[in-house]
Amino acid sequence: MRILIATASKHGSTAEIGEQLGRAITSGLRARNIEPQVDVKKAHDVHTVEGYDAVVLGSAIYLGKWLKDATRLVDRDLDALQKRPVWLFSSGPITPGDNADNLKWINTPWAVEHHMFGGKLDPSVLSFTERIATRAAKATEGDFRSPEDIAAWADSICSTLAAHPHR
Ligand SMILES: Cc1cc2nc3c(=O)[nH]c(=O)nc-3n(C[C@H](O)[C@H](O)[C@H](O)COP(=O)(O)O)c2cc1C
Repeated sequence: MRILIATASKHGSTAEIGEQLGRAITSGLRARNIEPQVDVKKAHDVHTVEGYDAVVLGSAIYLGKWLKDATRLVDRDLDALQKRPVWLFSSGPITPGDNADNLKWINTPWAVEHHMFGGKLDPSVLSFTERIATRAAKATEGDFRSPEDIAAWADSICSTLAAHPHR
C-alpha cells in the first residue's frame, strides 16, 4: 500500500507533524499486517498523487488560510484526489481566540476527514513582520502540537485503511 504524506510548512513545525504521521502510519499498518510504502514530502515537491493508494495532506495556517504549496496541489490534482481516500489536516491555533471555523478545508466533501492540530510559535524564527503580527494578535509563544493527538489520528487513519485495503 503506497501512502503519500505531503505538508506545506513555513517554519517547519507542520512538516514535523507530517514526519510523525509518517512514522505512526508505517508502524500502525505493519501492526495490522499491511506492508506500507509511506512517502513524506513537501507539498511543493509532489509532482503527482497518481500511484498512491491514499493521501494525507496538511498545511500550516497563516492569516486564516492554507499555504499556497498545499492549495496549489489541490487545485492541480483535484481529479486524482477525488479518486482515492484523502485525509486533510491543518496546524495553527496558538491562541484560544484563533478561530479556524472559516477555514474552507474543514468541510471538504471529497476528503474522508479534516483534522486540526495545534501549532508552534517560536518568535526566534519569525520574520520582522510576522513578529509584529503575532505580537499584535497577542499570540502565545510555545508548542501546542500534541504528539498524542497526532498518534491517535494516525491510528484512526490506519484503522480505516486496514478496513478498506483495496479501495
Ligand atoms: C504571521 C502569522 C500568522 C498566523 N496566522 C494564523 C491564523 O490565522 N490561524 C491560526 O490558527 N494560526 C496562525 N498562525 C500560527 C501558525 O499557523 C503556527 O505557528 C504554525 O505552527 C506554523 O507552522 P509552520 O511552522 O509549519 O510554518 C500564524 C502564525 C504567524 C507567524
